[in-house]
Amino acid sequence: MTGGIAHDFNNLLTVIIGNLELLEMTETGDKSKALISDALGAAELGADLTSRLMVFSRKSTLRPEAIDLHDTVEQSMALLKRTIAAHCLVETSLSDHLWQIKADPMQLQTAILNLALNAQDAMPDGGRMFIEARNVVVDDKYVAQDVDVSLGDYVRLSVSDTGQGMTSESRQRALEPFFTTKPIGKGTGLGLSMVYGFVRQSGGHVTIYSELGQGTTVSLYFPALAGGPAAREAPDTATTQVSLTAGERLVLVVEDDPAVRRLSEARIVELGFKCIGAASGDEAAEIIETRDDIALVFTDLVMPGKLSGYDLAKLVAAQKPQVKILLTSGFSEGMLRDGRIGSEFVILRKPYRQSDLAKAIRAIFGDA
Ligand SMILES: Nc1ncnc2c1ncn2[C@@H]1O[C@H](COP(=O)(O)OP(=O)(O)OP(=O)(O)O)[C@@H](O)[C@H]1O
Ligand SMILES: [Mg+2]
Repeated sequence: MTGGIAHDFNNLLTVIIGNLELLEMTETGDKSKALISDALGAAELGADLTSRLMVFSRKSTLRPEAIDLHDTVEQSMALLKRTIAAHCLVETSLSDHLWQIKADPMQLQTAILNLALNAQDAMPDGGRMFIEARNVVVDDKYVAQDVDVSLGDYVRLSVSDTGQGMTSESRQRALEPFFTTKPIGKGTGLGLSMVYGFVRQSGGHVTIYSELGQGTTVSLYFPALAGGPAAREAPDTATTQVSLTAGERLVLVVEDDPAVRRLSEARIVELGFKCIGAASGDEAAEIIETRDDIALVFTDLVMPGKLSGYDLAKLVAAQKPQVKILLTSGFSEGMLRDGRIGSEFVILRKPYRQSDLAKAIRAIFGDA
């Protein structure tokens, strides 16, 4: 059905674009020319949207090429500059030596536009948007499970916003075609489902991390054409062991999602520590107050209740300075640096490798 509508729509757009081009040739006034050019630009975006709809419904017409994300993001930014509202500040941060990926450049650009427009819609009162790209090595069963990709080298493109975030129902359904929370005429609910279709066809995966009232990070994982051995850390078996004295140390894992908490506890135990859990910052604060055998508090940043992970970290630092702190979050790096969270604590971005966890903990205990 979608393919059929897209096809008819494309015919209409062909007529619109053709007429606009004729007008553009005959019109001489600068002002009208600018208006026509804007209308043409929008109609061409419309044509691109329909081509995405057709990709979505027929799984064809993708023209994958080797892509350097620097170029694609730059091109998208050029388009975005004019369309993104002034009260949304956009920041980009791309690693210098990004691996190349193989994808359709037009689709990638429209995917970025889609994510950026979603971010903008989520921030009606303004806010910040972060577009980031990093090389990511998935050589760890935890990360592979979390992201739902096979082991290998990926480039991760994340678009984050400090907007309203999603409920857990919205987050779970966001990738479904026609799922939208926007009023009729404002959203079709196709944006993310098309992004998802495109990324899957490119061999990658999409993850969504979102917290109500805090913001959202949507990440696209693309398989790298060739990961660089220079950029890759040697898989080092020693990195999964923290220290010989780990077994005497007790770690308090603070995380509201029970499944994630169980997994985090298992990972900490795998590193050789003893471990207990708490489901909120408030519960953790009580535990910390009543016992003094806790060596490290490993806490999620955003949790329900009075105390966020950051509040908890500040409280612990002030009241029990001997207790070490490690924060973790699913938001992207730029988002995490965005003022709300001070740089005084180490923050591990989810999904993290077991070796990243080991490294962070070792550094915190000073036995690196
Ligand atoms: N950055 C975001 N912040 C908060 N909610 C989001 C964000 N991105 C997507 N969503 C939620 O997911 C839903 C589906 O997004 P999707 O892009 O597929 O459709 P849409 O934006 O509603 O419509 P369209 O993309 O056609 O304009 C949105 O309606 C919204 O509820
Ligand atoms: Mg959208």
